[in-house]
Amino acid sequence: MFEQTAVSREVFGDGSNLLVCGDVMKLPEEIRALYGKVQCVCVDPPFMTGERFIRRRPYGEKGWRTGSPAPKYPAYEDRFTNEKNYLKLLRRLAAVSRELLKDTGVFYLHLDWRMAAPARLICDKTFGKTRFLNEIIWAYESGGRAKKYFSRKHDVILLYARSEKSTFDLTRVPIPRGAERRNHMARGKDEQGRMFSRITSNGKEYRYYDDEPVYPGDVWTDISHLQQRDPERTGYATQKPVRLLERMLLPVTAAGDWVVDLCCGSGTALEAAERLECRFAGLDKNPEAIAVARSRLKTEDLTVVCGTSREPARLLTEEKPGEPSFTLLGLETEHPAFPKNGNPADHLEAWETGRIEEGVFYADQRFCRSFRYPELVMSLRSDPESVKAVMTTDAAGRRRAFVRKG
Ligand SMILES: C[S@@+](CC[C@H](N)C(=O)[O-])C[C@H]1O[C@@H](n2cnc3c(N)ncnc32)[C@H](O)[C@@H]1O
Repeated sequence: MFEQTAVSREVFGDGSNLLVCGDVMKLPEEIRALYGKVQCVCVDPPFMTGERFIRRRPYGEKGWRTGSPAPKYPAYEDRFTNEKNYLKLLRRLAAVSRELLKDTGVFYLHLDWRMAAPARLICDKTFGKTRFLNEIIWAYESGGRAKKYFSRKHDVILLYARSEKSTFDLTRVPIPRGAERRNHMARGKDEQGRMFSRITSNGKEYRYYDDEPVYPGDVWTDISHLQQRDPERTGYATQKPVRLLERMLLPVTAAGDWVVDLCCGSGTALEAAERLECRFAGLDKNPEAIAVARSRLKTEDLTVVCGTSREPARLLTEEKPGEPSFTLLGLETEHPAFPKNGNPADHLEAWETGRIEEGVFYADQRFCRSFRYPELVMSLRSDPESVKAVMTTDAAGRRRAFVRKG
């Protein structure tokens, strides 16, 4: 018999990485504790589009297997009463980021044509004009076409150094030379069969071999937006590709460095940091973003600081007396976006076993649906009494905690 309860955080393994639900305007203490320790802060905030973004999430085993059903849920609102309020957020993001960084650190701010200009002035003021490193143009083809002006097909990513000691190693992001356009050059093949482009200047021949690396400039055209059916897609609107974040992080971080994203959304920067073996912390004011980000991270060592939902639900379990097995049958709960006649097992996207001490859930096992594993493990061969508490994440991203009674 399990009873719903409230917990304020979940700890996995040594809990060293962080996912925090909170507002950067009232910075949670867990993020403040990283002041002066961080090598890279990446921020992809709202762009002031005036939109209400949604997120789509597969529902149940069929949803994860076939892509449908995948109901819509609100993701976040990119709406501000006026420009002044929006600029207040940007100023705060820049100021907090500067505090977080250590001397060798750098700051990335991702925006588009709407607010890139005032953002540049804010960052110049916060970091100092001399700390400006790049205005990266991330160009892509996706989106509609304009008729009354040139189509707006790029985002702007500002890069600032914390101090003159900031580190940057361009050799960590080689791109194949073939990716560069060299249409104006003649082609050739040498005695070893290596292809090259060549140009002759002042009687001297310059060769550019296809298999030699080159390094990106500040206009990136070789990373596209995620396609509709991209397996990387989490369903969270405005999700960025991991490749983009990897290119941003690689030249400025090393394994073990701290990476922070103050508007982490679905957690793209965190996944990139995880792949590069960095420690990471993500902040977002939307609890659904935290649930989505949690699902895509593989780390065994994570603290999730996010209160659980108080919307009532009932955990359905089966324990046979004397048998070493614990079965979760599902979660009885309601949500307007869930399909009619949805079954309690399909309501679940993930669950964990563990124990609760002083409002903290210490997890020992986690099971989660994914496109690769749409079926959720529901039965454990273990002494049922060893399952002291269960955390669930339902298909709408609501996290709940349950504790064994009696
Ligand atoms: C453009 S999205 C980030 C998308 C993310 N880079 C990804 O790849 O999924 C912006 C995020 O900022 C969050 N956000 C907006 N205002 C915030 C605030 N004041 N504090 C923390 N997060 C905020 C929103 O909830 C949203 O998830």
